[in-house]
Amino acid sequence: MSTALANLELAPTITVGKHTYQTQPLIPGEQIQERVDIMGQELASRYADRGEVHLVTVMNGALHFASDLRRSMLAANPDLTMTSDQVKVSSYTGTQSSGVLRFQSAPTIDIKDKHLLVVEDILDSGLTLKWLMNYFHAQEPASMEIAIAVDKDNPERRPNLLGSTVMHTGFTIPNEFVIGYGLDVDQEYRDLQGIYTLTPVAA
Ligand code: IMP
Ligand code: MG
Repeated sequence: MSTALANLELAPTITVGKHTYQTQPLIPGEQIQERVDIMGQELASRYADRGEVHLVTVMNGALHFASDLRRSMLAANPDLTMTSDQVKVSSYTGTQSSGVLRFQSAPTIDIKDKHLLVVEDILDSGLTLKWLMNYFHAQEPASMEIAIAVDKDNPERRPNLLGSTVMHTGFTIPNEFVIGYGLDVDQEYRDLQGIYTLTPVAA
């Protein structure tokens, strides 16, 4: 699979704004591409009966994952009818976290009776996806499933938060802050091919 991502050797220490972090490679880019290819094949055959899929990408983090996934799905099943849209969700008003989620950019395509696949970068507290699932459920899609690149083992996440929603997961990772493959720290480092953990270094 071709990719637009940068295959960098990330320095062992990086500074972003006023913060310095130690970095540690967690998942190499090649391993991500292999896994996403397999997910794409699995999803292509899963949606073959339904004949169509409406892919909603949660921006900005899922940008690379969604683009790789859709390419793999179509390579595996060129007959699949694929439509797409993107949303942006924010929990902030100004610079203050309000704790209340809202669309910074709302869906533009009606999902009623569509086979919806929501594509997100990471599942952490799960609150973003929970909120999105509730919103989409009310719009009566024909079916709704989730694809996430990484599932963070966050012990504070309420078990069964997303109920019986079918979830397709790339990797499960420890409860650490990560960057790369769409994931950012203050909007930087999204375009790394691999995923790295960040540990703050005391100033
Ligand atoms: P939630 O806590 O599951 O609602 O995740 C909210 C959002 O926080 C995710 O969609 C990511 O954009 C972001 N996020 C969570 N964990 C990380 C991380 O380790 N690195 C970068 N972004 C993260
Ligand atoms: Mg996100």
